[in-house]
Amino acid sequence: MLQTATARWDWEEGSSIGATAGAIPEPCVFVLFGASGDLARRKLLPALFQLFQRGLLPQGFALVGASLAKLDREAFQASVRESLEQSMGELDGLAWQVFARQLDHVTMDLSRADDYVRLGQRLSEIDRERGTRGNRLFYLSVAPSLFGPVVDHLGEAGLARAGRGNWVRIIVEKPFGTDLASARALNARLHRFFDESSIYRMDHYLGKEMVQNLLVLRFGNGLFEPLWNRQHIDHVQITNAETLGVEGRGSYYEQSGVVRDMIQGHVFQVLSLLAMEAPEDLSPEAVRTSKVELLQTARAFSPERIRTECIRGQYSAGQSGGQLVPGYRQEPGVAADSGVETYALLTMRFDSMRWAGVPFYVRSGKRLKERVTEVVVHFKPGPFRFPGVSGPEQSAGNRLVIRIQPEEGLALRINTKVPGQGLRARDVDMSFLYAQGFGERLPEAYEPLLLEGLRGNSTLYTRRDMVERSWELVMPVLEAWGASKAEPNYAAGSWGPAAARSLLETQGRTWNRE
Ligand code: BG6
Repeated sequence: MLQTATARWDWEEGSSIGATAGAIPEPCVFVLFGASGDLARRKLLPALFQLFQRGLLPQGFALVGASLAKLDREAFQASVRESLEQSMGELDGLAWQVFARQLDHVTMDLSRADDYVRLGQRLSEIDRERGTRGNRLFYLSVAPSLFGPVVDHLGEAGLARAGRGNWVRIIVEKPFGTDLASARALNARLHRFFDESSIYRMDHYLGKEMVQNLLVLRFGNGLFEPLWNRQHIDHVQITNAETLGVEGRGSYYEQSGVVRDMIQGHVFQVLSLLAMEAPEDLSPEAVRTSKVELLQTARAFSPERIRTECIRGQYSAGQSGGQLVPGYRQEPGVAADSGVETYALLTMRFDSMRWAGVPFYVRSGKRLKERVTEVVVHFKPGPFRFPGVSGPEQSAGNRLVIRIQPEEGLALRINTKVPGQGLRARDVDMSFLYAQGFGERLPEAYEPLLLEGLRGNSTLYTRRDMVERSWELVMPVLEAWGASKAEPNYAAGSWGPAAARSLLETQGRTWNRE
């Protein structure tokens, strides 16, 4: 139930929501499996370096790369430096020197049990050398097929167990399973050795500023919460549009498609923060419970709903950024007759007092016209009609646009009088851009995520029940669509299949962007 502000809802200064008051994490070793992979080089290492530069890493800290590469310490330092320079440009020399001292590398074959014993020995030495106190964060930035084996080996080598007074955590990258059964199996495998409280499932959308801001926007403003329901909201649109194609990841995408790649995880995270009930308090458990409870109220996708309320698409050749680009079926690694969807629109409905009758149109696609992720809340129009004013000018309901990326910000669209003679109305935006409002670099999503993982705050990570419920919801869609092929039905550089437009139009609505 909604409550008025109480002490339990106080946010602590300088912290991400629910975190422990801007605290510096405890001394620990960050063990990075897959340190030479693309994600580590582009995102994880730069995020750690940024945290270091901001003074947010503990004094006793070590970053240990664990990979097959035959790198000694110096060679690993050189490779990290190169990665950082590639993504951040020239480094501050002094900061780099101090950071570099915390780096180490263990050459190991992730499939060999003995190598984990060696890893454990090295970690104990590091504890003595650097005062990292036996605290460990294992980060699985490896191929998903290795998640299970690495977890088993860590467990069997005794590395998953914390001793008295220290902690062990594991961060698991996406994709977390490819369907409900595989997600459950991975959860079961993790749970053999790790408690739920030490498992951190990564979804980088939760680290985006505007996604975190959903909590503040909704519950920190008396203006919105009273209106956030079926009485005042007509419908909600969530658009997650990319201009990129599959970017050399064709063979991965062939096994995935947009529902698995984007909707089941990233988009459902946004949706759940947007539509959940107010959490009991700001603890990780309360916030995550509210999110999963929302998904419990989501109406299942029946064959009828899939036929009438969901649309899939696949891009054909077209223009993107002024360039001719190939269709999905012509991408490297993609079958010439591939039936994988690169676009999906799902109409989500929640059977709850708050949301009965309010559709949430959720769409995501590759090679669309613009790169934009945004939520548009369409409020119902007011009852008053101005004499002599007709058409959309008369009836436009207010809209709240929450722009997640790029150009993070908010816009509230309101009707206003056109200056001059007569009573003409038009909608205008009251807008706020993060970059202007705060005038500082917005942290990359991985910075708050890694920081909170190091601090032991799991608010920004996905809990077991959420990941399983998300899969459960999309399974009927995946099964129905898997039984036949998606055909190319939208040109690269367009706003997706025409059917997605018609679906809204038949309900008297239009997309905010197309
Ligand atoms: C990844 C998907 O998880 O998210 C990619 O695998 C997608 O296909 C990416 O491009 C989008 O992330 P962002 O932060 O650029 O919106």
